[in-house]
Parts: sequence; structure tokens; C-alpha cells
Amino acid sequence: MIEMTDVTKRFKGVEAVKGMNFYLEKGEAVGLLGPNGAGKSTAISMLSSLVKPTTGEVRFKGEPINKQMQTFRRSIGVVPQEIALLPQLTAEENLLFFGQIYKLSGRALKKKAERLLALVGLTERRKDKVKTFSGGMKRRLNTAAALMHDPEFLLMDEPTVGVDPQSRRHLLDTVKDLQKSQGVTVLYTSHYMEEVEYLCDRLYVMDRGDVIASGSKGEIKGVLSQARTYELRLSEKREEIEQALQEDGRVEAVAEIDNGYRVTSTEPDFFMALLEIVTAAGADVRGIEANSPTLEDVFLHLTGRTLRD
Ligand SMILES: Nc1ncnc2c1ncn2[C@@H]1O[C@H](COP(=O)(O)OP(=O)(O)O)[C@@H](O)[C@H]1O
Ligand SMILES: [Mg+2]
Repeated sequence: MIEMTDVTKRFKGVEAVKGMNFYLEKGEAVGLLGPNGAGKSTAISMLSSLVKPTTGEVRFKGEPINKQMQTFRRSIGVVPQEIALLPQLTAEENLLFFGQIYKLSGRALKKKAERLLALVGLTERRKDKVKTFSGGMKRRLNTAAALMHDPEFLLMDEPTVGVDPQSRRHLLDTVKDLQKSQGVTVLYTSHYMEEVEYLCDRLYVMDRGDVIASGSKGEIKGVLSQARTYELRLSEKREEIEQALQEDGRVEAVAEIDNGYRVTSTEPDFFMALLEIVTAAGADVRGIEANSPTLEDVFLHLTGRTLRD
């Protein structure tokens, strides 16, 4: 188990991570979700012992990681946000190189590289230099490199950014398979909620250095358990209509959309009441559509911004 207690990281003038508490239990797939600048990379760098916290502690199996650096580093595989490969070498040579760092050699090394090239779908390209690879292929190879020493924990920092859809699919399925059938514990960082939703059982939502929500997927969505969003389409948007919505005690949030408003409410069966409020304010209603909340809605609800802002 890896855990963080009250971990803060300050760079000159920036508090990138503020008093973060976190744990990763063996066998889990945990997501770290947040927009750019939330502090995800800083958190993952501290979790992987590459960056020292300003205050607070990272522990592995109950002991501070700096007291067992070698054991700890052998237990984790890190896929950093920036690709870390040797572009002049072939895919296979890269894996052999990373394997040697972990003291693998001979047949065992060769076999491991072969198996991982197959896992990430690069067997046919193994003799090609990495500099000829697409972004997606590099990401896949980077993931294979992180797995050469059979780590118990795989820590991935936004592995699908700038990746073509096919490689993205492949990476997601590879990670899912590693976790489900090979027992690898996964920490998956992303600003794509659909990836976290697909892969992870539990998640942390970060924004501006703070963990603003954590728990199982169900619990996180439970933040909005009763809440529903309604897409209200009107023939015309008007100030009085928006004001009537803002002023109604049952309305939690109002956002302007193309041809109307998006309204959030925790009130049961708010549909009819919503219709009454806006018609009383003189609206000509074209349609109302009720939606169940997504992780994106949770984030919007907690921060007032979208993940891509
Ligand atoms: N080495 C650094 N020096 C100064 N500021 C940094 C450094 N690394 C990150 N930051 C700042 O810390 C904040 C969080 O960054 P980061 O952890 O990279 O977020 P994310 O990975 O969620 O996009 C940002 O404001 C970023 O500019
Ligand atoms: Mg980052």
C-alpha cells in the first residue's frame, strides 16, 4: 500500500499540492482526475519518489519511502507525462535497455521484452527506431518500459494525451487487463473523465492543488445523488427568465447554453416545477431534457468550471 499524509508541495510562489491525503491499496485501480494545473503530475512525482514533498510524508507498506528507496522503486513502474525513451534505438532495444537497469539479462530479459512488445501491440514494429513512431506508439512503448521489472504498482501520468484513438483504446484495454487479470495495482491520472470512469473503481478529484472529492465512483456521483441537470431549450433567452431561475430556491445552478439554459436541481420531480417557473417568467419552451449526472457534472458542481477550462 502506498499512502500520502498531509502532503504539500510548494514551488517558488506556487502551492502545487495542498495537504493531500491519499492511499492506493493493492489490486485497486484508482483514478486521479483534474484539469491542467490541478497538481496531478506533482502528486504522482511525489508518490513515485521523484520529487520530495515540502511537508508531509509518503509511506510504502507503513514505512516512509526514503527509508526503503530501492525496494520502493523496484515495486513501482512509472509512466511519466513526458515520453522517456531513446529515439535512436529500436523499440526492442529500448526495452532491453530499461530491463538492464533493473539487472535483467540473458534469456529472461529477451523474453520479457518480447512478451511486453506483444502486450502493447508493437511486435511487428520491434525492429524500428522509436523516432519513426507516432505519439501513441511511443506511449505504448513507454508503458511497456515501465513494466520490464514486473512492478506491483503502475503509476501513469496522462498516458493518452496526444494519442490517436486506436492507440488510446489499446492502452486503456491493456491497463484494464493488467489490473483485472494480472493483479497490477494502477494509479491512472487523466483529465478525461470517461477514461477514469472506464478504468477505475475509486477516484480522487483534484483542482488547484486540493483534493476536492474522493471515494468510489458511486460515492462521487452521490455528491449529486438527487441532482439532475435539465437542458431547457427556449425560442428566445431573456434576462427575466434567467433571473427567475436564479432566484428560485429549488434551483442549484444555472448555466447558459446555446439555445437556452442548463439547470441543476436536487428537488425530486423538478421537471414540472421548472416548466412553471419559466412559463411564469414568459418563456416559450421548446423542450426540456433531464439527464443523470456524470463525473463532469460533479466537477462543474464542485468548482463551477468544466474539466477542460
Ligand atoms: N517544477 C515546477 N516549478 C514551478 N512550478 C511548478 C513546477 N511543477 C509544477 N508547477 C506548478 O504547479 C501547479 C501544478 O502543476 P502540475 O502538477 O503539473 O499539474 P497537472 O499535472 O495537474 O497539470 C501548476 O501551477 C504548475 O505551474
Ligand atoms: Mg500533469
